[in-house]
Amino acid sequence: MIEGIKQVSMMAIGNDLLKKPRLFYDKLREPFVGRDEEALTIVLALLSGEHLIIIGEPGTAKSALARRAARLLNVRFFKYLLTRFTEPSELFGPLDINALRKGIYKRITTSKLPDAEIAFLDEIFNANSAVLNSLLSILQERLLYDGYSEIRVPLWSLVSASNRIPDEPELDALYDRLLYRHIVKPVSEEFWGELLDRAWSIEKGDFEDVKPVMSSNDFLELNKLVFQVDLTDIKQSLLRLFAILEDSGMHLTDRRKSKALKAIAAHAIFEGRLKAKVEDLFVLKYIAPSDAEDFDKITNILLEELRTPEKILVELGEIERNTETIGREVEKLKSFDPKLVEIYRSLKTARRRVAMISRMSDDPRIADKVDSLINRIDNLLDEVTSKLGM
Ligand SMILES: Nc1ncnc2c1ncn2[C@@H]1O[C@H](COP(=O)(O)OP(=O)(O)OP(=O)(O)O)[C@@H](O)[C@H]1O
Ligand SMILES: [Mg+2]
Repeated sequence: MIEGIKQVSMMAIGNDLLKKPRLFYDKLREPFVGRDEEALTIVLALLSGEHLIIIGEPGTAKSALARRAARLLNVRFFKYLLTRFTEPSELFGPLDINALRKGIYKRITTSKLPDAEIAFLDEIFNANSAVLNSLLSILQERLLYDGYSEIRVPLWSLVSASNRIPDEPELDALYDRLLYRHIVKPVSEEFWGELLDRAWSIEKGDFEDVKPVMSSNDFLELNKLVFQVDLTDIKQSLLRLFAILEDSGMHLTDRRKSKALKAIAAHAIFEGRLKAKVEDLFVLKYIAPSDAEDFDKITNILLEELRTPEKILVELGEIERNTETIGREVEKLKSFDPKLVEIYRSLKTARRRVAMISRMSDDPRIADKVDSLINRIDNLLDEVTSKLGM
């Protein structure tokens, strides 16, 4: 009896906890246009206790995302913009002069990187050799070697950003420690209108009222669940994928191969599952690429190689995200706005595509998604036609 009660309460805690990553993700991407994948990679980094690099041209909301993530987390946070001239004391804290007088070499690390649970380092590839070594051991071993002593640091995840993919050999070790890598693309033309509206709202302060939705304790607990994910169904597919990636010139270091399972399990947890499915292997998109060419070809390789229902689910997911973006735009547009005509056409195209997809497989997950998507698109079409007075 007592055992039974214990189990039920464990499940209740588990369920509540399992909802938090999704809540964090939704809140994180809320103000931005087209930043879903960036939000996802931040969640994956948190769930797996790994580090992330977001690469992209200036002004693509990299810093804005990191700032918002920090406000959604109840954690000790450190952020810094690195330049070639950044000195160790700026990141790791100044030397303690009083201690030094007594012959003790020690840093005052309060509020600096060694004190942080989550850190954001902007322009991380500017790290010079004076900070690089300490950074490497903090990232890998969570240890700061401080001249004579070692300090254990609580860093859970580093979110970093850069405008470029590094090509200097001395940065290889740092780049390899950033498990998740993502290239952020500027917003595409069809969403420029929405970008203006959202950026306006952001500047006006409409999204300022944020409260933390996750604490460091939450991701420690979630991380325990990550290691309980049943991975039996995907191991063979993962090994096959490694071979295919290697054949297409995409070499994963042993470190990255070893950590792939953790990323896959983290994605399953994000989806609220304790069992990994082939669709979770899509996280390899963020682990396998190294150079610009890899980033270009990885999505196609994964779409090509992963089983059809998973491919279809991914495509439906993309259509779903676009539909939601369009939905938000329709809400804002006034009657007879000429943009509505364009939107009407793209909704019709999306509807035809979804209908076609529904005939490709009889997987119940696909049928469910197709039903809800068709429903959503039809409702939007109604809204658009009524705004157009048709
Ligand atoms: N996709 C987007 N959705 C909404 N607003 C955006 C988007 N992209 C950029 N912005 C607006 O532009 C501002 C500038 O973005 P931010 O400073 O975060 O860019 P960045 O990628 O960090 O640039 P840099 O590489 O120069 O540091 C954001 O605060 C936001 O107001
Ligand atoms: Mg920035």
